[in-house]
Amino acid sequence: MNTAHTTDTIDTADATSSTPTIGVLVGSLSSTSINRTLARSLTGLIGERAHVAEIEIGDLPLYNSDLDETPPEAVRRFKREVSSVDGLIVVTPEYNRTMSAVLKNAFEWGSRPYGESIWAGIPAGLVGASPGAIGTATAQQHVRNVMSFLDMPTLAQPEVYLQFRPEVFTDDGRISDAGTRGFLAGWADRFVDHVRLHADARLVAAGSRAA
Ligand code: FNR
Repeated sequence: MNTAHTTDTIDTADATSSTPTIGVLVGSLSSTSINRTLARSLTGLIGERAHVAEIEIGDLPLYNSDLDETPPEAVRRFKREVSSVDGLIVVTPEYNRTMSAVLKNAFEWGSRPYGESIWAGIPAGLVGASPGAIGTATAQQHVRNVMSFLDMPTLAQPEVYLQFRPEVFTDDGRISDAGTRGFLAGWADRFVDHVRLHADARLVAAGSRAA
């Protein structure tokens, strides 16, 4: 994420503060991931309006239902962190016209054991970057399908199918092109509103359950 957030981990106490906590899943393990660069840019554009931190998915073992009742620590840590956020940004690469295995694996872990999914109700945003002209559009349709099934209210517009041009992004996520910066800033604004809207709705729902 941006410099201020590079070493942040999700603080479970933040979920109840007035500044929302936003987790970021990056579906790439590459040390030079263009999708992580995109994630850093969005973090910078969200700025002080939220606590934004990446949630690690690279240490999750391949999903195996044998481990549903005795998940390894990496899985427990992952579930704790996702469960603590007020919103989630999913940044997907496109591999062979779909999402990466590492991202799908994270969705699998979070969806099980049956009836104990961590995903339902988390307001989410979906973006992705590739060097190609369609900018992860195909992968995103697949991810959107999964997120819909998992009952995650996902921001519909604007869509971000980013054809990544390295000369436009610095490694720490700054954007030199005004048009790209403005477009992504618009997405960040809409996404923060989306999280706040759902945070309010979730508070009301939790209150009526407690009453
Ligand atoms: C790719 N790439 C790619 N790009 C694309 O637009 N559509 C595709 O279907 C694929 N398929 C694909 C498969 C595999 C296995 C790899 C490794 C790559 C290229 C891909 O967009 C490019 O490598 C990006 O840099 C990947 O994103 P990260 O990992 O840099 O975030």
